Amino acid sequence: MSAFPPDDRCPIAILISGRGSNMRALIDACAAPDFPARIVMVLSNRPDAPGLDVARAAGLRAEAIDHRPFGKDRAAHERAVDALLREAGVQLVCLAGYMRLLTPFLTEAWAGRMLNIHPSLLPAFPGLHTHERALQAGVKLHGCTVHLVTEVMDDGPILGQAAVPVHPGDTPDALAARVLKQEHHLYPAALLNLLRPETASSGHREAALLVV
Ligand code: GRF
Repeated sequence: MSAFPPDDRCPIAILISGRGSNMRALIDACAAPDFPARIVMVLSNRPDAPGLDVARAAGLRAEAIDHRPFGKDRAAHERAVDALLREAGVQLVCLAGYMRLLTPFLTEAWAGRMLNIHPSLLPAFPGLHTHERALQAGVKLHGCTVHLVTEVMDDGPILGQAAVPVHPGDTPDALAARVLKQEHHLYPAALLNLLRPETASSGHREAALLVV
């Protein structure tokens, strides 16, 4: 018998395509001994994603399955991704800037066990260029959303949201930076709430934000 109790933290994978700042926030959260998830793999569809080096520097397994050799066969790429996730014993997948449209193969295989973070207050502004579109629309509040992934892009049950004010004269970059800071709080909080709701409920904050 092992001298150590079995590790009951949920084995998760983080899927990225780029710099991986949300991945970094999840790495930092998982470093706390009482956080209920452990990262067993970071996986990118881009072998040159800077986030892969960040993950390796943190001592994590970091892999790439380049989508390009699969051409238009998205499902074939997803089958390779799915096989690697299962081989690694992954139970839950966090998309963090994973810039691939998913087919029903992957969304059904991981239904209820795949999260995404999106830089808008969904259902407003699904898709790309959310900060530019928020400014063009003249909204006073913008933000980010963590949701379960379904086959509809940037849809699915909302697990958490964080709002930020839009300031007069904001540029898309300034607004993006304000939102990103909140993304880094929201994603670990939403994951914690999903895995251990009794703990996270004590962290619910009543917030009133009036922007005129
Ligand atoms: C974030 O804004 C996230 O909401 C969106 O893609 C961006 C990824 O940024 N899905 P990073 O790679 O986590 O820094």
